[in-house]
Amino acid sequence: MSFEYHNLRSGTAASDDQFAQAVLEGLSRQPKCLPSWLIFDDRGSEIFTEITKLEGYHPAQCEFEIFRSHTQTVTDLVSKGSFTVVELGAGDGRKTMVLLEHFIQSRLKFDYIPIDISEGAIKNLVSFLESTFSGSEMSVRGLAADYFDGLAAIGGNENQRNIVLFLGSTIGNMKIAEAEQFLRKLNEALNSGDYVMIGFDLMKHPKILYAAYNDPTGVFETFNLHLLDVINDRLGADFIKRHYVQQGQYNPRTHAVESYIFSTREQVVSIEALDSEFYFAAWEAMQTEHSYKYTQHEIETLAAHSGYEVVKHLFDANHYFMDSIWEVKK
Ligand SMILES: C[S@@+](CC[C@H](N)C(=O)[O-])C[C@H]1O[C@@H](n2cnc3c(N)ncnc32)[C@H](O)[C@@H]1O
Repeated sequence: MSFEYHNLRSGTAASDDQFAQAVLEGLSRQPKCLPSWLIFDDRGSEIFTEITKLEGYHPAQCEFEIFRSHTQTVTDLVSKGSFTVVELGAGDGRKTMVLLEHFIQSRLKFDYIPIDISEGAIKNLVSFLESTFSGSEMSVRGLAADYFDGLAAIGGNENQRNIVLFLGSTIGNMKIAEAEQFLRKLNEALNSGDYVMIGFDLMKHPKILYAAYNDPTGVFETFNLHLLDVINDRLGADFIKRHYVQQGQYNPRTHAVESYIFSTREQVVSIEALDSEFYFAAWEAMQTEHSYKYTQHEIETLAAHSGYEVVKHLFDANHYFMDSIWEVKK
């Protein structure tokens, strides 16, 4: 039993370049559009945790319900030998803890490797697990890393099955073609017979979607506007946050809830690291979030196209959300 934390991110110029490039491309587009992953520094990850506690944010509440009701199904699947639970974008790991606790009570032999780009999230998660499960047999190795750098660092043990968790509807932040590319890359990093368990938010009444992404307490607005702080910090920009507001809505053409930041006035923002200035017209909208809403058919097609066989679909009582378990086929 051990509880370790490793930072694989320090001094990674590549990730800074990647960030700068994504901001340059997104702000140069017409209409302006920035990818959702840019928001996730330590504070971004903390605000996301606040979102998961909102009563009206059904993706988190429904996935919690799935974890509470279906732990035995997952346990039956992995319990034949020792195994490793790898979690991509673990965040605060609260849902996963329901599963880990059940594995511990069932006396299973397993390791847990949470991976997240946010150092703060991983440090907090490892120290929470250490204080809660120190008497258990579970070994924990938290990695502050990009998904695939983390997976590469783990190294493969073909005799030990992996179950890779990718929860919280994070896959919805990708367009379907990007999700397929991501899942193929994940398939290449895993062994035949490994499992993946992925959280998909399902298509439902657009008014329910609207309510989930426009909370009256303004946490979603804080989350999206935080992106401006991140760009100010990382690239020396001069965004003035109070000159922007946020709103989210379902777009039937893209099948995604899209969040937009609106510039409340005409303004020019300069970004030192890009040596550039960007003009915003009054009420110009810049997209900052994309959360695709899946149908079951699309999920099954995605599995087949990216090298997996569906093992089981787990639903909440309303069928608002699905955690789908797939086996890697090579
Ligand atoms: C939508 S949140 C989900 C958090 C958690 N899994 C949940 O279900 O509540 C996405 C998480 O992925 C992390 N993340 C985003 N991009 C990442 C990347 N490229 N590599 C590793 N982690 C990433 C973020 O820091 C954040 O904690």
